[in-house]
Amino acid sequence: MLLEQNADLSGRNTLALPCVAERLYSLTCPDDVLRCWQQGVFEEAPLILGGGSNVILPARLKRPVICYTPQRVCTKTRSSTSDVLHIVDAGKNWDCLVAETVKAGLRGLENLSLIPGTVGAAPVQNIGAYGVELCDLLEWVEVFDTQTGEICKLSSDACQFAYRDSLFKRQLGRYLILSVALALSDSRDFALSYAGLEDLNEMSELTAQCVRDRVVAIRRSKLPDPAELPNAGSFFKNPVVDATLHAELVRAYPDVVAYPQAEGRYKVAAGWLIDRLGLKGWRKGSVGMHALQALVLANYGSATQQAVLALAEEVTCRVQEAFGISLEIEPVIVR
Ligand code: EPU
Repeated sequence: MLLEQNADLSGRNTLALPCVAERLYSLTCPDDVLRCWQQGVFEEAPLILGGGSNVILPARLKRPVICYTPQRVCTKTRSSTSDVLHIVDAGKNWDCLVAETVKAGLRGLENLSLIPGTVGAAPVQNIGAYGVELCDLLEWVEVFDTQTGEICKLSSDACQFAYRDSLFKRQLGRYLILSVALALSDSRDFALSYAGLEDLNEMSELTAQCVRDRVVAIRRSKLPDPAELPNAGSFFKNPVVDATLHAELVRAYPDVVAYPQAEGRYKVAAGWLIDRLGLKGWRKGSVGMHALQALVLANYGSATQQAVLALAEEVTCRVQEAFGISLEIEPVIVR
């Protein structure tokens, strides 16, 4: 276990917000987690930080910050199916895992290429892209329960996954994710229904690498690389509305982008709503909505949490006034 005092987190969050953590614990094994728990660190509501790609940090954090760093990958082939179970430590970089599994000819993670962050953070927001969500592949999550001090395995059902949501997000801070088990295979069907991937259906001998290459190309064409322009990916969730509001929207804006969901509801593209209001590329000081993807809020200079939230508030109000839709911020606002 390593304890750093007054740690600079500005390089540890992809929005590059200035943040000093009074205490940063780097934990390298489950025993370290237990030791921290015995010392009462978890009673101070610590922030559990992965790759920092989904957080909006304040200037100073009095609460302890915990990073769980192990990065091992262990594979087990199941005799009953052709699945290769990947048991991956929480500290591993997500896209490195995707690249390695794709290189090994395994299918499952290719649509989730290039998502910033760690494996341990992936279940928290149930990462999803191009028609695949983490919960489609996840078998279980091994966690340290900070309420009981015990290590347990939660099945995919127990994790209560939903769109950009999970038990871990609803009870933020209760569970420290130690490892994740993913079922991959060399023969499962590819998910190619998302716009931009459909033509891959025509390819003979399609490989996971081809799908990954395409996803990487699409993402690079519109999503800024946080290493070049600090951002936290989609800043708002795509709102889900009822059939009546959807019908009103279609009447007023025939080109509105929305996808049918269960129970007659529709998921509306928040990027379209923001874009329609002319806010794509809109900047205020150091913060702004990106010029190629209106759903991405970027830090163009020396943004702070306050500036980020002020801009988000303006966007939310404008969307509410114009469309009667309440946008929800996707990354976690850390206080
Ligand atoms: N659109 C616009 N203008 C914009 C942006 C989008 O009109 O500025 C419209 C376009 O018509 C486009 C549609 O909105 O067809 C959807 O846009 P896109 O395919 O870029 O997807 P998204 O709904 O904006 C979601 C995820 C992304 C994920 C992509 C692809 C959320 C909050 N975001 O974005 O996830 O990569 O789909 O599956 O669900 C993230 O969570 O950080 C993230 C990047």
